[in-house]
Amino acid sequence: MDKTISNLSHFEGQEITLKGWVYNKRAIGKIWFLILRDGTGLVQCVVVKGEVDESLFNLEAKLNQEDSVIVTGTIRKEPRSVGGYEIGVTGIKVVQHVTEEYPIGPKEHGPDFLMSNRHLWLRSKRQNAIIRVRHRVIKAIRDFFDQNEFTLVDSPMFTANAVEGTTDLFEVDYFDRSAYLTQSGQLYGEASAMAFGKIYVFGPTFRAEKSKTRRHLTEFWMVEPEMAFCDLDEDMDLAEQFVSYIVQECLEHCQEEFKILERDTSKLENIIPPFPRITYDEAAKLLIEKGADFTYGSDFGAPDETLLAEQYDKPVMIHRWPADIKAFYMKRDKDNNDLALGVDMIAPEGFGEIIGGGQREDNYETLVRRIRRHDLPMEPFQWYLDLRKYGSVPHAGFGLGVERTVAWITGTKHIRETIPYPRTMSRLEP
Ligand code: 4AD
Ligand code: MG
Repeated sequence: MDKTISNLSHFEGQEITLKGWVYNKRAIGKIWFLILRDGTGLVQCVVVKGEVDESLFNLEAKLNQEDSVIVTGTIRKEPRSVGGYEIGVTGIKVVQHVTEEYPIGPKEHGPDFLMSNRHLWLRSKRQNAIIRVRHRVIKAIRDFFDQNEFTLVDSPMFTANAVEGTTDLFEVDYFDRSAYLTQSGQLYGEASAMAFGKIYVFGPTFRAEKSKTRRHLTEFWMVEPEMAFCDLDEDMDLAEQFVSYIVQECLEHCQEEFKILERDTSKLENIIPPFPRITYDEAAKLLIEKGADFTYGSDFGAPDETLLAEQYDKPVMIHRWPADIKAFYMKRDKDNNDLALGVDMIAPEGFGEIIGGGQREDNYETLVRRIRRHDLPMEPFQWYLDLRKYGSVPHAGFGLGVERTVAWITGTKHIRETIPYPRTMSRLEP
């Protein structure tokens, strides 16, 4: 077991050495305290005059925030201290002494300043906790699909075609032609489902959306399961089991992080299937009833999503959308050709859409017509059309946005804090 702050309870009574950085310090007469940070947590290290040699006691005056240090001492229980343990120091070795003032101090900083110092900001307690929850979310995603016999089949980032419409594509030079950064691995996911049955694609995706909202990144991580022989209802079954599993795993493993984030976890505890399912029509009626500024047939805006989410204490799935506002690949409802068999899942507490997906068009001629209708070039879709020529079957899947999911679970207002190094319209650094 690593000798880290997160593992201190296993070393009670022992003298161990910890490697980390100075988070804070304070002195009261013959005692001084060093708050040590090692990336896994914080611990108070106590230095007592007379118990250590003079030069170690005098080190207090010289230490600066973020000095890298190696601390040796005895671990003891201290319920009043951060993490419940403290260290009776016997030695401190300074690895590097910081000579310039550390940019991020205890005073309030604006979000832009903090984002410009993201490479340092990640060392702070709150940011560290969010990224740890993100780690757990991603682990839960992989575990869920593993346990349910899905195969990970990666899709390329360079692509020749649009998936989610042409307006927000990043175009890049690709030798003597253009390529696009992928908006979604779905089309490849469909091909892989025909080869493997149940698959998932997991990787970064790119959208050149000119949106500056708290829910949009230009680069974000999406996980996309796709299943052969699957319809919309079965797709929604999977979506609710999947999201519940992620939330329950976080509740089991991230209590320390939730404490730091002051997240009210009671709102997460009942995230278990079944989730409410309503049609677009029902959602639209509800919005109009509640007096929302909304016209039937349009997509829901952020305030609409929040209003809808407020009606439920679990994520709500909205299905059967006006086909005109959905992607070309969506299968139509056999009872109403104007409706697409798509589903969006809206998270509670105003965190917006976390899942988009649905059943795919599996008929060759219909799909050719759709590609034409959407003014998409036919040539790059030839391989995708092949899937409808050789053993086409009903199939469905969805994409879950990792950052929006982490934002919801951690209660983080702005999505940019849920990815280590966010990319937005105005930010390419650090
Ligand atoms: O609803 P979207 O656009 O669906 C698709 O891309 C489908 N092809 C997925 C599929 O069926 N395999 O995106 C899916 C999810 C959204 O619900 C949202 O959580 C997230 O991806 N997302 C974004 N997250 C951050 N920034 C953005 N600009 C996002 N756009 C979508
Ligand atoms: Mg969507």
